[in-house]
Amino acid sequence: MARVKLTDVKKVYDNNVVAVHDFNLDIADKEFIVFVGPSGCGKSTTLRMVAGLEEISSGTVEIDGVVVNDLQPKDRDISMVFQNYALYPHLTVFENIAFPLRLQKVPQEEVFKKVTEVSEILGITEYLNRKPRALSGGQRQRVAIGRAMVRNPKVFLMDEPLSNLDAKLRNQMRAEIILLRKRIDTTFIYVTHDQTEAMTLGDRIVIMKDGYIQQVGTPDEVFDQPKNLFVAEFIGAPKMNTFRTNLIKENGEYYVTPFGSKLLVDGLKGEELKKRKIEPQEVILGVRPEHMVLGKDADNDIDAKILVNEMMGSELHLHVVTNDNTELIVRVPTVDLSHEERAKLTSGNEFHITFKGNVMNFFDVESEENLLN
Ligand SMILES: Nc1ncnc2c1ncn2[C@@H]1O[C@H](COP(=O)(O)OP(=O)(O)O)[C@@H](O)[C@H]1O
Ligand SMILES: [Mg+2]
Repeated sequence: MARVKLTDVKKVYDNNVVAVHDFNLDIADKEFIVFVGPSGCGKSTTLRMVAGLEEISSGTVEIDGVVVNDLQPKDRDISMVFQNYALYPHLTVFENIAFPLRLQKVPQEEVFKKVTEVSEILGITEYLNRKPRALSGGQRQRVAIGRAMVRNPKVFLMDEPLSNLDAKLRNQMRAEIILLRKRIDTTFIYVTHDQTEAMTLGDRIVIMKDGYIQQVGTPDEVFDQPKNLFVAEFIGAPKMNTFRTNLIKENGEYYVTPFGSKLLVDGLKGEELKKRKIEPQEVILGVRPEHMVLGKDADNDIDAKILVNEMMGSELHLHVVTNDNTELIVRVPTVDLSHEERAKLTSGNEFHITFKGNVMNFFDVESEENLLN
């Protein structure tokens, strides 16, 4: 059991930098929570306060109902994995993993059993006699994870554990962490600046900016119903297209009028606008690149000219420009395209794009909050 609860947690550093403001979060037992946000937004500081490595300026951190603010890190029953592995170079892989057990004076037989068990889970049994310098980055990170695992912590904390790995290894380790999580059934708090990691790993994601939580939700929720423009643009790659336009109402129907066109807000979004009697107004409209489709539409469409066509393999990223010089990205799956169609999607060519009401996101131009929050 490990429920972790943060209540009004705040961190003010000595230089009066407020790194974390009023952080409130209730993490369920065995939940995988991800803190994500740009560099400097307070992710590590928050994690370190849970770990006991950083003093909490105000508020409380509870683990299973016990306030741990004044408990030493070693008494909190947590393990932490860092970005830079922090392995002991003079110790073998076996002894690196065994280290926390040695500190606890665990009998040799049990140390052997535990280290064998975690190295099997992590697939590093053949390296147990090596020193860390004889391992690749991915293998070292596995050893660091192994060292955190041997103690069967109640809470597993990871601070950007994959950031030092190259892209291919990072994808592989990400999949391994998903498997690992299934095997060691415990509470995880995982910090990353990478939205892909957050989306693929998290049961829930906490999106942070400037020390404030912007939104807490499942990957689906933060993707489909971003609370504000920041979350909308941070989650999803390539990032959501956003531009100012007018939301108008005619004969009871809402329309948006970007780039001289007029698009009906149909579907659920149209229903919601009506139900909430949203005033016609200037808005920031957000549409994800994968939700813009090529071709003429019966209702209306937008003229666009291709600047760059990035071939990504399974999809094309078309960087296009509209008649008022707004740049948009349109994501096109290559599987649907004939050779002729593909040949036309080259720099300088003009074509049409359109999108449906249910993929539109509307943000207030001042507050940047989602109008349908
Ligand atoms: N020891 C420290 N002393 C003063 N300011 C710090 C210290 N550590 C971090 N900060 C500041 O606190 C803010 C949050 O930092 P951090 O939690 O490391 O962000 P993140 O992990 O999201 O990149 C930043 O503005 C950073 O400069
Ligand atoms: Mg950090």
